[in-house]
Amino acid sequence: SVVDVDAASYEAGEHESFMRKEILEQPTTAQAVLRGRLDERFGTAHLGGLDMDARDLRAVRRVKILGCGSAYYVGQMGAALIEELARIPADAEAASEFRYRDPVIEPDTLYVAVSQSGETIDTLLAVQEVRRKGGRCVGLVNVVGSAIARECDGGIYLHAGPEVAVASTKALTNMFLGFALLALQLGRTRDLSIADGKRLVAGLERLPGQIEEVLAGEADLVEVARELAEARSLFFIGRVRGFPVAREGAQKFKEISYRHAEAYQTSELKHGPLALIDPEVPTVALVPRDELTERNIGALHEIDARQGPLVVITHEEVDLGEVRARRIVVPRNEPELDPILLTIPLQLLAYHAAQHLGHDIDKPRNLAKSVTVE
Ligand code: G6P
Repeated sequence: SVVDVDAASYEAGEHESFMRKEILEQPTTAQAVLRGRLDERFGTAHLGGLDMDARDLRAVRRVKILGCGSAYYVGQMGAALIEELARIPADAEAASEFRYRDPVIEPDTLYVAVSQSGETIDTLLAVQEVRRKGGRCVGLVNVVGSAIARECDGGIYLHAGPEVAVASTKALTNMFLGFALLALQLGRTRDLSIADGKRLVAGLERLPGQIEEVLAGEADLVEVARELAEARSLFFIGRVRGFPVAREGAQKFKEISYRHAEAYQTSELKHGPLALIDPEVPTVALVPRDELTERNIGALHEIDARQGPLVVITHEEVDLGEVRARRIVVPRNEPELDPILLTIPLQLLAYHAAQHLGHDIDKPRNLAKSVTVE
């Protein structure tokens, strides 16, 4: 397979950059993280590497996710999945802040460290803080045998293959899928029904093909990305499940285009950022078909009324009515799994904006792939 190579022999090949190669690999790498872990019959997941039996899983009262940069944002997506599917209170925190506030470590909290490289110093020190105080920390890590993987009590390897571009794409997608597997297994040892479990297993099995569908629409996004690249400042907005997606979208865009990109909850627009909306400041809005669609469209009207240019990432069924917007449609999955399909176009927008601006996409200025010193 395309990802079954070691880092030393991994090359961009015919692709103009590693980032584009890594974006396009996602249908294959997404299959790799799911392989052998889904149980169709019982609607659950098997994660042997966690080293936790049903009794251990049932003892978890809270989940705290720790990561930096994109790993932190996908941690927020993961927390939402765990809370929804397993009904366990869950949240994510920047690993770089965690140890400085002398955190309370609880024995019935499951700590989860997320890292592509497994070498990010802040995440590693957060794991050590947890373990020194007697907590259980599992890892969602891509690089096998890395420092964080070794420091954790167990974990889920992401099997995304080597990732070279500083901006994380395929590893991030597999982090999301790793959280989905964890949420499913935690949920099925509790109150998640077998019917819901089967619904999600089927959804996960559909995802790689749907990622491929989104990637097939790449050409349609190039023009939109170029328009966005012209702006000096942009907003990325979403609500609830969509907010971490907006944060990740803004992160990716700013990292490689060097444009100021800021994420906001759509619901908070009226509490500040609306003051900045004008024809020079575009907004990329996440508007999936869900219980918040109508409210989201209300916010789009507010932006449109101030001539703010809009790019809306949405589902076929969503009717934007009178709102003037560039519409980017992604396929629907189960609502809990939609965030990752909404993320893919944001990768492509960031990529093509940076390409248009002529930046070094794989090695953006001032940034490192992994930050291994304090
Ligand atoms: C750096 C990179 C980010 C990445 C973060 C965490 O800041 O620039 O793209 O998300 O580190 O890296 P990790 O290897 O721990 O996932």
